[in-house]
Amino acid sequence: MVNEQNTIANKKEISSIRMLLRHATLQYHVQLNHHPLLVGITQTNYNLANYHKLLFSYFHLYKALESLINDFLGRQHCVFDYDKRNKLAWLIDDLAYMHLESPQLSCSLNLSALKTVGQLVGVLYVIEGSTLGGQMISRSLNEHHGLTRKTGARFFFGYGENTAIMWQNFIDFADCISGDEIQCRAAENAACQTFQLFNQVLDNYVQQEHAAD
Ligand code: HEM
Repeated sequence: MVNEQNTIANKKEISSIRMLLRHATLQYHVQLNHHPLLVGITQTNYNLANYHKLLFSYFHLYKALESLINDFLGRQHCVFDYDKRNKLAWLIDDLAYMHLESPQLSCSLNLSALKTVGQLVGVLYVIEGSTLGGQMISRSLNEHHGLTRKTGARFFFGYGENTAIMWQNFIDFADCISGDEIQCRAAENAACQTFQLFNQVLDNYVQQEHAAD
């Protein structure tokens, strides 16, 4: 699915940093697409109990990751503006709409602070990129389950019609590290680790649920 032609992200000439990150993380993206909480999310028969678990997992992930991003941007002079991109509030809206209260994770997410722009680019690549597939998911949740931005699917609605421009603005920023070998390696490592963190937290959530059965 990541290689589809003529999709939002392919309309402009592909940047080298994006190609690098896409190549480095492809296996993790594929793995996530097959995760029990995500598999079939665009299908009619997707179980909304899994959607609830997904929102819980994402709540923990975005709380931790956005705190790292906002911390870094508060400490370093950086032209990237994350203010209009914060997504934790969207997840809180969805959980509140569904009357769901987020339980504790059995493992806490003690993530190391971001130290370089390369690491920032790597983390942002994963969470900004997820808004692309999010558009497809948003349409499916609406079509098959009647969920909208106001009724439990604010997170996946994301930037809505501004998705392509928000993505392009991120890529323009990410391109500032193109050609800098050290920053590119840092971005690659951070992107892989972030994808792996998504897989771990989703797994952890599934296991925790089984343990409670
Ligand atoms: C079943 C769930 C998912 C589906 C169906 C899906 C689907 C897609 C699709 C179709 C694209 C290409 C969109 C475009 O180019 O316009 C895409 C891109 C992307 N997705 Fe996903 N995705 C899913 C989950 C995720 C998750 C959970 C993450 C990360 C947490 C993620 C990260 C990314 C990234 C980084 C890209 C950009 C790849 C690039 O550079 O081209 N996706 N996804």
